[in-house]
Amino acid sequence: MSVAATSAVRPAPASVADGGAMPDESWTDVATRAAHRTLHGALAAAMLPGNRLWHAALDPRGEAPSAEALAELSRRVEELIAADEENVRLGHYPRELLFQIPLVEYMTRVLPEALLDAPRLLLRRYRDGHADLPDVPWMDSLPRYYRRTFHWQTDGWLSDRSARLYDGSVEFLFGGMADVMRRMALPAVVRTLRESGEAHPRVVDLACGTGRFLLQLSRARPDARLYGVDLSPPYLAYASRLLADHPDTSFLRENVEAVPLADGSADCVTSVFLFHELPKPVRRRVVAEAYRLVRPGGRFVVLDSAQLSDSRILDVFLRGFSAGYHEPFYGGYIRDDLGAVLSEAGFEIEESRPWLVSKLVVGRKPGGTTRSRRPGRRPARAARPRRPPAGSS
Ligand SMILES: C[S@@+](CC[C@H](N)C(=O)[O-])C[C@H]1O[C@@H](n2cnc3c(N)ncnc32)[C@H](O)[C@@H]1O
Repeated sequence: MSVAATSAVRPAPASVADGGAMPDESWTDVATRAAHRTLHGALAAAMLPGNRLWHAALDPRGEAPSAEALAELSRRVEELIAADEENVRLGHYPRELLFQIPLVEYMTRVLPEALLDAPRLLLRRYRDGHADLPDVPWMDSLPRYYRRTFHWQTDGWLSDRSARLYDGSVEFLFGGMADVMRRMALPAVVRTLRESGEAHPRVVDLACGTGRFLLQLSRARPDARLYGVDLSPPYLAYASRLLADHPDTSFLRENVEAVPLADGSADCVTSVFLFHELPKPVRRRVVAEAYRLVRPGGRFVVLDSAQLSDSRILDVFLRGFSAGYHEPFYGGYIRDDLGAVLSEAGFEIEESRPWLVSKLVVGRKPGGTTRSRRPGRRPARAARPRRPPAGSS
């Protein structure tokens, strides 16, 4: 799933999603676009050489992409950048999010630690150390599919070090486009919250990890009541620090297959970069759980890896990710169709489309438009912000 071969970002048409409305060409918009494109051009130039080397080290026999695949990747980069700017212009999220990447932290803290860790990671890849995990006291509570070093990352999901390195490493993997892809899920969430009419609408983010998407949401809708669910105490601890200035956030250390919140208690359920790491039956169980959690008229908004059904032309990149990284369920995932899975669970599919090497699927639960206010329909747990549980240092 690498974007290792993309070209630098070139200016794209200003308007992509406004149905013909005149774009605002005020000085600030022009300056913002120029700064945004400069940032991503620089990120791509800085990351892509190292990114290519890293892929070659992990998958030396990897197939070279065709000129057609490279051109498509390049086209998608431009499309994504233009959509990001357009979303700001349309008021889906604030301008500050275009520049949210914590570059100084990635350069001064993540990069040195990741470089030191790289030889161990390579060694693990070549001796298949997929069960190379720290001895944590909560191991027995974890499902078998979870107990592995996804991406060959040191400690899997089970340590503070892994949580510290995760965001920067994912940005490196995607050539600086990871947060941008995550932002493509925001318009559908924001629309759902607006429609709810609630003063403090609820969003449950399944597998919130370090909280990158929750952070974006907190900036787009500061009045939202956010719930982050994840199985990793260190990742939840990291997320709770990241969201410290959004007090209406609760964290639940739970399996997303069975979340202890009441039926219909969420206006919107979200999930970012989770499904490609789940076995097929678990993917279905999690979608069924999202259906239970979301209120009638609410939405399940999923942003995950692209799949072959929408991105066959990028086949070489998707298969490369499967081969070079430890992603045992990815091969099955890319042959699946998330839209169909949501539809089988009862959602009406409003949108299913690729964004670069990711895809966005938006499913609406049929029925009313506002959340039930009946007693007992409120979330069963985590009514107040909770500290992540023991297990994180
Ligand atoms: C690839 S990360 C994605 C994190 C985050 N959503 C993002 O945008 O980067 C996958 C996350 O899923 C969590 N996870 C995987 N399986 C889970 C499960 N069954 N229940 C809860 N969390 C799970 C992991 O702990 C990890 O934080």
